[in-house]
Amino acid sequence: MTSSGLRRDAGPDGARVVAMLRELADLTSDEAGAQRVAWTGVWQKARAFLREQLRGLPVTVRTDAAGNQWARLPGGGSGVVIIGSHLDSVPDGGWLDGAYGVMCAVEVLRSLAARGPLPCPVALVEWADEEGARFGHSLFGSSAVAGTLNVAEVRELADASGLRLGDVVAEHGVHLDRLDEARQEIRGARAYLEAHIEQGPVLEREGLPISAVSGTVGVERHRVTFRGQTAHSGSTPMDMRRDTFLAAAATALAVRESAVRHRGVGTVGAARLRPGIVTAVAGETAILVDQRHPDAGALEAMRGEVRRAAEEAARAEGCAVSWEPVFQTAPQPFAAGLVDVVREVCTELTGHARVLPSWALHDATPMAGAVPTAMLFTSSAKGISHAREEDTPEDHLRLGVEAFYRTVCRVIARSAGGDAAG
Ligand code: GLV
Ligand code: MN
Ligand code: MN
Repeated sequence: MTSSGLRRDAGPDGARVVAMLRELADLTSDEAGAQRVAWTGVWQKARAFLREQLRGLPVTVRTDAAGNQWARLPGGGSGVVIIGSHLDSVPDGGWLDGAYGVMCAVEVLRSLAARGPLPCPVALVEWADEEGARFGHSLFGSSAVAGTLNVAEVRELADASGLRLGDVVAEHGVHLDRLDEARQEIRGARAYLEAHIEQGPVLEREGLPISAVSGTVGVERHRVTFRGQTAHSGSTPMDMRRDTFLAAAATALAVRESAVRHRGVGTVGAARLRPGIVTAVAGETAILVDQRHPDAGALEAMRGEVRRAAEEAARAEGCAVSWEPVFQTAPQPFAAGLVDVVREVCTELTGHARVLPSWALHDATPMAGAVPTAMLFTSSAKGISHAREEDTPEDHLRLGVEAFYRTVCRVIARSAGGDAAG
């Protein structure tokens, strides 16, 4: 026994995590990349794969009212330590985004189960629809559990084929009227810990395999729709057009300018033109605008600038413009005491005490508002993610498994002492 009440053991097997990830990728990818988009059959296949990995462990596996899967390993005391991430991917996505954190959590559960009685329960969670790839709204399952999901707002969101979120999730056993029940899953939780790839270039540039994460930046996401006049591409003189695509394109340039000015980021990642044919001026164009910044004031300024630019562009092209919120989240710092634990573990393993902000969102974002939370990053090759080229050197993936395990053990030991965040 150690002072934390945990028996010593051989620790986690990083190679097994990599093997599980490769098997999952084979099962759920095609030549364009990972296809585990939430609320699809391929995603369900990934979730069944997770249940197979958990078979044989002394855990209870169940799905909550928001569609999140939980595997609970019993322990003494009451405050659960939660570990996990997501299995859903963007279309044509990478093999590691989300899946890495889930498979790290499986391996940590396996190692903890082998160590005998735990001083507190530990739960693996696999969150439903982190990406928001289909409906534009990220962090569905984790926001529901944290109590920050705006049900009225998500109910009417539609995918590209016009299917409504409320109807689609119901086919997967999730009923928006009962989402509140999911909040009980984290009652009395002591900590939430997530391992994830960085998805950006910083660690690779600095020659570091892993780091702690200070928190996530704020995000503003809107659908901006321009309405003008559909007209013939050949016979409509240039000075008689009300071209919605040109207004949208001018707005996209303003998104970039505003992001550069404020040292934030801004993206127009999706555009839909109607009728969307080469022989017609587009009478309607809808774009999705995503803006991010670590500072709430700067983010607000970026949102205002782009809104004014969209109005100006619409006026210049003789169009109308409407602006609908799709998703918002404020900059979210993680629990300082837990960030310190991750930083200490990284320093032990690498000699470096790097702490990065995350420009990508994570399920840790809503969780941090409800439970003391921290994250561990593993480097990303060329900083590429949300693409099939996404990759991480295998030795970094393995080191991340060890770092995550040490972090969880230390947090459990603190929990046994009564305060995970302290
Ligand atoms: C999800 O990966 C996001 O950062 O929006
Ligand atoms: Mn992710
Ligand atoms: Mn992602």
